[in-house]
Amino acid sequence: MDTAAIGLTSRNLSLPEELILMLLSEKNGYFHQVPGWKLNCAMIGAVVAELSLLSRIDTDLDSLLVIDRTKTGNHSLDFILEQIADDSVQRNTRYWIERLAIHAESIIDSTLDNLVELRILKHHNGGFWTLARSEWIREQDGAPENGTAGHHIKTRIVNAIFTNTIPDPRDIIVVCLVNACDVLRFIFDLDENAEERIKLICKMDLIGRSIATAVQHSIANPLLRHSALTNEIPRVSLRWLLLNPHVRDGNLPALFAEIAEKYGPVFEIRRPFADPMIFLAGPDTNRWAHRNGRMHLRSKDYFADFEKIYGASGVLPSLDGSDHFRLRRAMGPGYSRARLSDQVDQVYNHARKYMAGWSVGDTLPATSLCRRMINAQISSLSLAVDSQDIIDDLIAYKERALKTHIIKAYPKFLLKTPGMKRRAKVVDTLLERIQSVHTPAQRTGCPRNLADEILGLHASDPQLVPESNLRFALSAALIASVYLGDALSFAVYAMASQPDLYDKIRSEADALFGNGDPHGDEFTESATDVTGRFLKECLRMYPIVPMALRDVMNSCVVEGFELPVGSRVFIAQTATHYMGDLFPDPHSFDIDRYLPPRNEHRGPVYAPYGLGTHTCLGHRWLELQLCVNVMLIARHFTIRVSPANYKLRFDPLPSMKPSSKLKFHIAEQRISLHDAKSPGT
Ligand code: HEM
Repeated sequence: MDTAAIGLTSRNLSLPEELILMLLSEKNGYFHQVPGWKLNCAMIGAVVAELSLLSRIDTDLDSLLVIDRTKTGNHSLDFILEQIADDSVQRNTRYWIERLAIHAESIIDSTLDNLVELRILKHHNGGFWTLARSEWIREQDGAPENGTAGHHIKTRIVNAIFTNTIPDPRDIIVVCLVNACDVLRFIFDLDENAEERIKLICKMDLIGRSIATAVQHSIANPLLRHSALTNEIPRVSLRWLLLNPHVRDGNLPALFAEIAEKYGPVFEIRRPFADPMIFLAGPDTNRWAHRNGRMHLRSKDYFADFEKIYGASGVLPSLDGSDHFRLRRAMGPGYSRARLSDQVDQVYNHARKYMAGWSVGDTLPATSLCRRMINAQISSLSLAVDSQDIIDDLIAYKERALKTHIIKAYPKFLLKTPGMKRRAKVVDTLLERIQSVHTPAQRTGCPRNLADEILGLHASDPQLVPESNLRFALSAALIASVYLGDALSFAVYAMASQPDLYDKIRSEADALFGNGDPHGDEFTESATDVTGRFLKECLRMYPIVPMALRDVMNSCVVEGFELPVGSRVFIAQTATHYMGDLFPDPHSFDIDRYLPPRNEHRGPVYAPYGLGTHTCLGHRWLELQLCVNVMLIARHFTIRVSPANYKLRFDPLPSMKPSSKLKFHIAEQRISLHDAKSPGT
């Protein structure tokens, strides 16, 4: 039997793997509420315990000795064994746990990766993990276990805690470690008997006891967590800032990269009469935000005023923790690439219908041209309505709301002007349209769309998606048109200003569309090699959402600076896009960055879709839609930048777009829009 093919694993799990499976909460897709330091100590404890069970070290309450340096074959275990063996002084377990805790995060990462590879865990976009629904085989019995590996380990621990059988030494260690993290009470319903039994188990095994004691002592030492609190966050000189050329050209990521180069990865900007703003910018702060942000930062506060304007509270971007995970999972299919891929013919139809309005010789404003082109598609695909007549008002209202309530660049009364009050009513017009076409009778036989997902969730779980949130949730679908439309403006600009790339994209488009319109699944990586790399480079140089806002809910130290509880943090995740050591010659457009061995986009230094748990849920969808639109434009038209000597400037707030001076000149129509053949015709 080919076990790999059906998702079975034939090896026993290591203690670090078992610890991860114990701590993983299926409710929030991450670990039970274990603070970072505790988790790190417990993880190193698990490695040390495994080394001890493998007879590589011997440990008791006073000392830890290496007795055999032979490699185990497990990278994490071997790394820790080497660290301990290389030290000439004999130390105790607690010393090693504290000393090695800084390596715990990479061990956690590689353990999670292993478990995903073994198909025991499933990784979800946004940094969430759940148990994969596959059977698995244990080495010693060879017979398939029912249920998942996670359930198996939890069943063993239930037996250890809730029956009087003598537990296996491994189970004792797992109980000791999870107990040291203080989360057994969140995993199981513990009564007094169970608590007594846990105490007893924790005394049963010497290795487990010595490690748990070391973990507990290390956890109890708050000084270790606050050792680096002494640095004061540098304040950026406003004079220096105002003289920076990127303040004038609006290139925020390049500006943040230059500030970080001068002031370091954590800095503060104080505008007169405004609250101080703390910024994080650089590869290490990106890594931190991606991995640890969930423990320390939340989205709820910064978004609250904005969602309230729509009468909403607790919509997807403003949720945290398990509610966020639940809603994100439920909404996933509505934003998936597969959903778009299945209806790609609709994208062709709407795009061609829109382009039919272009005549050779026209010169049209870039931003509204591209936003409307995308909106014609998204309105129909996601909401089954036409919103071309109201999209400008919807956008104007949303942008004003963002500028008053999130960026706080405008006073609040500017959202109450007669013009804005009129635009606010347009949200209701959109809603009425959506509701009128989403009755069960009207939707019979239609492919499921995003509005169906949202309304369905409201019907099945009105606590998670209350009626009061529908106004926001449904109209937010069109906010995506703005982001994607602006990304298309940048892409058309980049194509029109680099004729050699235009030609290459056109050749790829001709190859794909030459024998008729392709199916969605034909947009493979190899068929879209140049276009795909071109779009990656567009989103590096022109990221639409250059930063994210969060509020600190648990104080933390990042790169030696304390972020105090309650402070607002701006994660400038795209500053890295303009750092020369990560993306050499960052101001030059170079699509070969994404070829091996360069692969400059690997890891959280390339972050056009954000970082951590709120990473763009629609990014796979948008990649396909953007690719299709760029290819259709390249195949049918030659577009030039107007005025011909236009130098790119950005309008960066509330999101990045080209300045309003950019126009597109329709220079040539290559192929009639009616010539498109369907496959098989
Ligand atoms: C080029 C266009 C786009 C860019 C650059 C972009 C970027 C982003 C970024 C950076 C975030 C995270 C914001 C944060 O952390 O606060 C985000 C969130 C999100 N995006 Fe996009 N986005 C784009 C288009 C889209 C599209 C077309 C869709 C839908 C089809 C979409 C759906 C979402 C959703 C649902 C979230 C919220 C996820 C959550 O809070 O868990 N985005 N996007």
